[in-house]
Amino acid sequence: MLEQITNEAKTYTKEGKPAFYIPVLALQSVEQFAACIVDENGNYFEVGNTDELFTLQSISKVINFMVACEYHGLQFVLDKVDVEPTGDPFNSIIRLESTAPGKPFNPMINAGAITVVSMLPGKTAKDRVAYVADFLSRITGSTHQVNEAVYCSEIETTHRNRAIAHYLKANDYLLCDVEETLEAYIRLCSLEVSTKDIAKIGLMLAGNGAYPLTDEEFITRNTAKVTKALMTTCGLYNASGKYAASIGIPMKSGVSGGVLCTVSKGRVEHLEGKLGIGVFSPGIDDIGNSVAGMKFIERLSQTYDLSIF
Ligand code: DON
Repeated sequence: MLEQITNEAKTYTKEGKPAFYIPVLALQSVEQFAACIVDENGNYFEVGNTDELFTLQSISKVINFMVACEYHGLQFVLDKVDVEPTGDPFNSIIRLESTAPGKPFNPMINAGAITVVSMLPGKTAKDRVAYVADFLSRITGSTHQVNEAVYCSEIETTHRNRAIAHYLKANDYLLCDVEETLEAYIRLCSLEVSTKDIAKIGLMLAGNGAYPLTDEEFITRNTAKVTKALMTTCGLYNASGKYAASIGIPMKSGVSGGVLCTVSKGRVEHLEGKLGIGVFSPGIDDIGNSVAGMKFIERLSQTYDLSIF
């Protein structure tokens, strides 16, 4: 059945387009498709090149939020960023102006994510990136480098994010200066991961912060629960409601074509219990979600009844 679901999803790879607004990502081949599912006993399902590297992009927002909550405590973060979905595009600026006092609605949209990055530990942008990359490595067992080509191509063209960051600074939501915050945010978006790494992050979240294969705790249970709630309500932007209804599991997408999913309890063929899922297919839709990736997860959830509802 998993082979059939995979083959069906692959027929959608050309329905999406690479992220045109980030020059290096615009060159990605949309025909790529990889998926990895890992369960609490260390069993894997893999299709495609699950070791191939791609950039985190907005999946980094989940990791940054977890790191900030663990370092400062959840309330400190929520004093600066709310937990409300917007129904707006991920890089929308409108609510910073239209809704006093201009507090970012949630950490999954760019405004909230940029605010969270400004509170990460470290004296410089590169210190902040190193701190998060180390946290990530402890979960995945891999080393994670910034893809400098992707970083350079985005930092030179990130006009909307620069406008968002200046609004946030004007409203006193940034804890460090605009350019340093943007450098850290775009570098974190450009951190390279594999589909297998993404699945391991999902498995840690399925364990409510403890990695089921080692019982090592990476984040508190409360941080894990709030993170999964945000993924479910905000993780796919103005399609979050649609996918909560049709798929019903916590997910976070990135414009490079990655999707992170976490299942607290499920059974998929020989895999059972807590599950982490990573998918990669660079063809994204207008909202920024991988078309083939979402089709794979949708068929998986519907076939194996993975919805939390
Ligand atoms: O800030 C940006 O626009 C990108 N670096 C990340 C956006 C993104 O991944 C949106 N998620 N689908």
